[in-house]
Amino acid sequence: MRVIRNPQKLSKILAVTRHKRRSIGFVPTMGALHLGHLSLIKKANKENNIVVVSIFVNPKQFGPKEDFKKYPRQLKKDLAFCRASAVDFVFLPSDKMMYPEGYSTFVNVEGLSAVLCGASRPGHFRGVATIVAKLLNIICPDALYLGQKDAQQAIILKKMVKDLNFPTDVKVIPTVRQKNGLALSSRNAYLDKKQASDAVVLSKALSMARSLFESGARDSARIISRMRKLINKKQQAKVDYISIVDLERLEKVKKINRDCLVALAVRFGNTRLIDNTVINYA
Ligand code: PAF
Repeated sequence: MRVIRNPQKLSKILAVTRHKRRSIGFVPTMGALHLGHLSLIKKANKENNIVVVSIFVNPKQFGPKEDFKKYPRQLKKDLAFCRASAVDFVFLPSDKMMYPEGYSTFVNVEGLSAVLCGASRPGHFRGVATIVAKLLNIICPDALYLGQKDAQQAIILKKMVKDLNFPTDVKVIPTVRQKNGLALSSRNAYLDKKQASDAVVLSKALSMARSLFESGARDSARIISRMRKLINKKQQAKVDYISIVDLERLEKVKKINRDCLVALAVRFGNTRLIDNTVINYA
């Protein structure tokens, strides 16, 4: 495994890889790697000759009052994790390399970036789209691997890849959960014991939505209200949003009459967790 910090150097090495017709799978991360990332790396390894993982805590996707400074950083552990997961290259750029002084170019996927998490985190998806566009330009992968846990991010990045003609397939890999249902996330590290056990309610609320749908419920407001009631039973839980939206435009769906995304964001203390499930209508 090679650790490369310089974007130009990585591009040059990977140009040779491509010339040899070896396919490149790319997993972008902000580090604090867990089994969710492992499932992306495994899939990338299965489907490609070479796997590149980037580790970069992207300052442009955090709001001024968000957790950029305290975001978990554990480079040594992450590098050992990548080595053990048969990663070929870790791209580890500095803030200055990605955003040199005077940096002024941004990618904004309109519409999709303004709703759900975008409504409570203005500028977040502009930061995500910008860094991923830059990484795609540096790495030129055949396939980009993203987690379904960040469903809105995946939908936005798919749209960006299509709109900007990146020659890359976007693969979305199922959410990895603890046995109790809690979706794996680097931010789970912020939770204390009580919050971590209470946060299981999120996956329970999503399962409830699926069960209600399976037993005939189609009215989104009703389903959301039942989910909200369940979540509100946990004293520390503060719902940011619970929404049922369509999978292309992320527009609210009143009556479920097609495939939908049930998405939620809930705070436990200072920690904001997200999770989702897809309801297949057919
Ligand atoms: O999902 C993440 O970890 C980040 O948003 C990403 C895609 C690595 C961009 O910084």
